[in-house]
Amino acid sequence: MKIAVLAETGNDEPRVAASPDSVKAFTRKGHTVVIQQGAGKGSFFSDNDYKDAGATLAKGAAATVKDADVVLSVRRPAAAAVKAMKKGAMAAGQMDPFGDRKEIEAMAKAGISVFSMELIPRITRAQSMDVLSSQANLAGYKAVIDAAAKFSRAFPMMMTAAGTVAPARVFVMGAGVAGLQAIATAKRLGAVVTATDVRAAAGEQVESLGGKFIFVEGMKDESTAGGYAKELSDEDKKRQAELVANHIKTQNIVITTALIPGRPAPVLVSKEMVESMPSGSIIVDMAVERGGNCPLSKAGEIVEHEGVTIMGYTNLAGRLSGNASQLYAKNLQNFLDPMVDEDGALKIDWEDEIITGCGLIRDGEIVHPILKDEA
Ligand code: NAI
Repeated sequence: MKIAVLAETGNDEPRVAASPDSVKAFTRKGHTVVIQQGAGKGSFFSDNDYKDAGATLAKGAAATVKDADVVLSVRRPAAAAVKAMKKGAMAAGQMDPFGDRKEIEAMAKAGISVFSMELIPRITRAQSMDVLSSQANLAGYKAVIDAAAKFSRAFPMMMTAAGTVAPARVFVMGAGVAGLQAIATAKRLGAVVTATDVRAAAGEQVESLGGKFIFVEGMKDESTAGGYAKELSDEDKKRQAELVANHIKTQNIVITTALIPGRPAPVLVSKEMVESMPSGSIIVDMAVERGGNCPLSKAGEIVEHEGVTIMGYTNLAGRLSGNASQLYAKNLQNFLDPMVDEDGALKIDWEDEIITGCGLIRDGEIVHPILKDEA
């Protein structure tokens, strides 16, 4: 099987879909791997690292994907790459299924099969393929590190001859994968950490990491059977806002991660709340790409508002590209492994729930229900 790895074309994307380790694993199984020249640059994997791992290099996207059975990328492949793919090939990457529909149609027209890694079902068997988790985990860590670097005070308490330095107070909103890693990181740095979520189940996890869980008294647990958050009722939204407004006044760092599948991010930190925070406070809005948990945050920008800094980085995982690429590449490797038969040929099982969960296009036909509804 021939596996091609594209260089990313977007400015905000330093990650790459293969690491020297994943290339080694593929070549050990007898696959041929072709890497587009310079693809690993943003993650500090050189062309030679890939060569040493057994890959060959190609110049430009079209030459890279030529005759490939599998094309791997971080984001959607650019039009030139799609056009050059052979009919019947498969492409896997974070395909942004709700993004530009015309590009999805162009991929279908190319007669290929396309898999969107963000849609891998969150079942036990697919945990090692779960790019949302692998990337959110790193993003949660980086959010705290970014906040700590900008904060004009220290995180841990320090007792010195010149007086005591108070510990930073960190509040994490949304205790999913990113939030839990943010809690653990802030705790390791010595902060006093509190966190909230609408899923009562998150409370135990927050406390096991040494954080204090803050939950609206008597609020119904707002989660689905799959463990995801649901939108709150207007009454609960009001009660949550009151609780947050009282708490946030005393916090130095707020990391917001709250997302609801298929909905815009809930607004949790209002302008008035920002203005109530101590001067020098930092907010990292990790939900900024989905509309933001704070109305003052701007995607890709760092905003100052009355002494409070609001960070709106759009690709936090990409800010740790070395690890992010390594884990993403491993996710892809784990996704591909079961698709290969004993003879080393691609054999996609369209009865498997992992395949149907993330398969957008099957041999040129748009098949995923979320895309069919839009047609
Ligand atoms: P996410 O990125 O969709 O949302 C982040 C967090 O925001 C969630 O914890 C959510 O409950 C919370 N949230 C939503 N609205 C909120 C509000 N109004 N106020 C406060 N918090 C709010 O979530 P993520 O990180 O993808 O995880 C969701 C769930 O999936 C978790 O229960 C996690 O443990 C589970 N999971 C399961 C996996 C598996 O079984 N393979 C893998 C990864 C996660």
